Amino acid sequence: MPRSTVARIDLAALRRNFQTACNRAGKARVMAVVKADGYGHGIGPVVSALDSLAPKFAVACLEEARAIRAASLVQPVVLLQGVHSGADIDECARNEFEPVFHCPQQLEWLERSDARPVFWLKVNSGMNRLGFHPDDLAGVVNRVLAMGEDQRLLGFVTHFACADDPDSPMTAEQTSVFEQATASFPERMKSVGNSAAHFVPGQPLFDWSRPGIMLYGGSPVIGKTGPELGLEPVMSLEAPLISTRMVPAGESVGYGAGWVADRDIRMGMVAIGYGDGYPRHAGTNTPAAINGQRIRLIGRVSMDMLAVDLTGAPEAKEGDSVELWGRTVSVDEVAACAGTISYELLTGITARVPRHYG
Ligand SMILES: Cc1ncc(COP(=O)(O)O)c(C=O)c1O
Repeated sequence: MPRSTVARIDLAALRRNFQTACNRAGKARVMAVVKADGYGHGIGPVVSALDSLAPKFAVACLEEARAIRAASLVQPVVLLQGVHSGADIDECARNEFEPVFHCPQQLEWLERSDARPVFWLKVNSGMNRLGFHPDDLAGVVNRVLAMGEDQRLLGFVTHFACADDPDSPMTAEQTSVFEQATASFPERMKSVGNSAAHFVPGQPLFDWSRPGIMLYGGSPVIGKTGPELGLEPVMSLEAPLISTRMVPAGESVGYGAGWVADRDIRMGMVAIGYGDGYPRHAGTNTPAAINGQRIRLIGRVSMDMLAVDLTGAPEAKEGDSVELWGRTVSVDEVAACAGTISYELLTGITARVPRHYG
C-alpha cells in the first residue's frame, strides 16, 4: 500500500478564487497565470478546471503552453518571457500563443521569420528585470509597424516590483511610467497586475490582469494570509502519523539533537520531509494540524519525515492524517516560519507526492 502522503487539490476552490480575482479586477479581463505546473498544482487539471471561466492563460515558456494544448484547451496563451529562438515564433503563430517580446533579439527573430504571431511588448517601468525602456518604446513600436505588424501588436505589458507592500509608493510610480510610455498608442491593450495589484486600493488594472498566486489561495500581500484576504486554500498537503512516543524531559529529537524536551512530551513522526518539498528551514514551532487541532513541529525536518509535538492533539494516534498546510494551517504561515513565500512552497512539492483532485 502506498504511503498516504498526498497533496489534495480542491478545484472548486480554485474556481472560486478565480471568480474573486474577476470581482476585484473590475472592468479588466483576467488571464490565469498557470506557469510552474500551475504553481505546483498540476497544469493540466488546473487549466481544465478553469476552462469555462478563463478567457486566456499565461505561462513562462513554450513547454508550459504546449501542456495547455495537450489538455485540449483552445484559449490563447501568453508567453511571459517571449521566445528563446526564431523557430519558437513559428510555433507561436501556429498555436495562438502570444509571446511578450522584451528585447531586441526577439524582434530580430520576428523580422527574420515568415510566421506572424500576435504578440505583446514588455515595458520596463522600473522593475529592471525585462522589457524595453519607456524612452525606447516609440522606436520599438515603429520598428514592428514597419514589419507590417499593425494588426498583430496586441499591446503592452509591465510588471510591478512592490505591489505586495501596500506602503510602497513604487506601484503608483510604475503605473505612471507605464501610462506615459503607452499614451501614444491608446488603441492597444495594456496589461499590468499580478495578484497583489488586485488588493491595492484604486489601482488601475487596464485591459488584462494577470493573477497567479491568489488563484491557488496563497497571499500576495505582505503580512496577510490568503484566508485573511478572502482566498481559499486550494492545496491541502497531508501525510500520515507513522509513529508516536513519549520523549522524556532532557532528551532530544532528530538530526543535530538541537531540540531538547523541556518536559515529558508525546511526539509523533510524520511521513513527509524535504524530499517531498516540505521546507527544511521550517523549524521548531512551525504549525501543522491533526484532526483539525493545531500542533507544532519540533527539531529538524529530515528528507522523508518530520517530528511533531502532540500536546495540542492528545487523541492523535498512528495512522491519523497530519495537515502540513491547508484549511487549518495556511501555507502562508508555514512559509513565514520557513523564511520564504507560499509561491516557493507550492511550486516546490516534488513528484513523489501524488496530487489528488476533487
Ligand atoms: C509577468 C508576470 N505576470 C504575472 C505574474 C503572476 O504573479 P502573482 O503570482 O504574484 O500573481 C507573474 C509571476 O511571477 C509574472 O512574472
